[in-house]
Amino acid sequence: MPHENLLIADADSIRTITINRPDQLNALNRATIAELDQALEDAGSDRSVRVLIITGSGPKSFVAGADIKEFAHFSIEEGKALSADGQRKLFDHVERLNKPVIAAVNGFALGGGLELAMSCHLRVASDNARMGLPETSLGVIPGYGGTQRLTRLVGKGKAMEMIFTAGMIKADEAMQWGLVNHVVPADQLLTKCTELATAIMKNSPSALASAIRAVNANYEPGVNGLQREIEEFGKCFGTADFKEGTSAFMEKRKANFTGA
Ligand code: COA
Repeated sequence: MPHENLLIADADSIRTITINRPDQLNALNRATIAELDQALEDAGSDRSVRVLIITGSGPKSFVAGADIKEFAHFSIEEGKALSADGQRKLFDHVERLNKPVIAAVNGFALGGGLELAMSCHLRVASDNARMGLPETSLGVIPGYGGTQRLTRLVGKGKAMEMIFTAGMIKADEAMQWGLVNHVVPADQLLTKCTELATAIMKNSPSALASAIRAVNANYEPGVNGLQREIEEFGKCFGTADFKEGTSAFMEKRKANFTGA
C-alpha cells in the first residue's frame, strides 16, 4: 500500500518509519493512523526487519497530537469510536509488536504523540523535545492510552499532574521522571537509536518477541505475568535460536540468530 503520510526506509535490518505531515506538526489524522497500522503489520511479518524506529518529519515535532481539526465536531459516539479504533489499530498494535520499537522523539510529543511514544518499547528524546498531555485544555482527556501508560511509566502523582496541568515538560525532566530512556543532542538522535537497535539485534529475535509478551503481561488485567513468563520461557527451549545461542556459547563463537 503506498503511504501518503509516512516515509519508510530500511538500513541493516532497521526499519525507520517517519510520520510525514510536517506542516501539521505530524498530527495523527485517521489516514495516518491507518497507514501506521498497515506499516506495523508489514514490519511485523517481514523477517528482514529486526527493530523499528518511529520518528517525526522535520526539526520541530515528533507528533503534536491527534488531529484536532478532524475531531472538533465529533459526537459522544464518534469520540468513543475514535478512541477505541485508534487504541486497537495503532497504540496496542505498537505495544504488542513482535519486535522492538524505539520512539525517536525529535520535538513536540503532545497528546496522541506522547501516547504513541509511550506505546513504543523504548524512547529516546532529542534535547529540544517537549512532552505533554494537553487534552484537558481542549475539554477532553487522553484517549489513546495516555491515562494508563503514563501512569505506568511515571506513577500516579506525576501522571495526574501532567494531565491536570496540560503542561509540557522538557526532555531532561522527562528523563528524571523515567518517561524516556535517553536524551541526546538533536543531531545525534537517530545515531543513538541506531546504536540501541544494533545492540538489540545481536540477540535472538524469537527471545525478544517472548520478552515483549512477558513484560506486557504485567499490565494486562487478569493475566498472571509470572505464569506468562513461565510459558514464554518454556517456549524458548523449542526454538532454533535457543539451540544456536547455547551452542555458540559453548563453542566460544558469536551466535547467528535467525528468529526461528
Ligand atoms: N491537530 C491538528 N493540527 C495541528 C495540531 C494538532 N494536534 N498541532 C499542530 N497543528 C497544526 C496547526 O494548526 C498549524 O496548522 P495551520 O498552519 O494550518 O494553522 C500547524 O500545525 C503548525 O502549528 P502552530 O500551532 O502554528 O505551531 P506553533 O509552533 O505555534 O505551536 C504547538 C506548536 C505544538 C505548541 C501547537 O501547535 C499546539 O498546541 N498544538 C496542539 C497540541 C495539542 O493540543 N495536542 C493534543 C491534541 S489531543
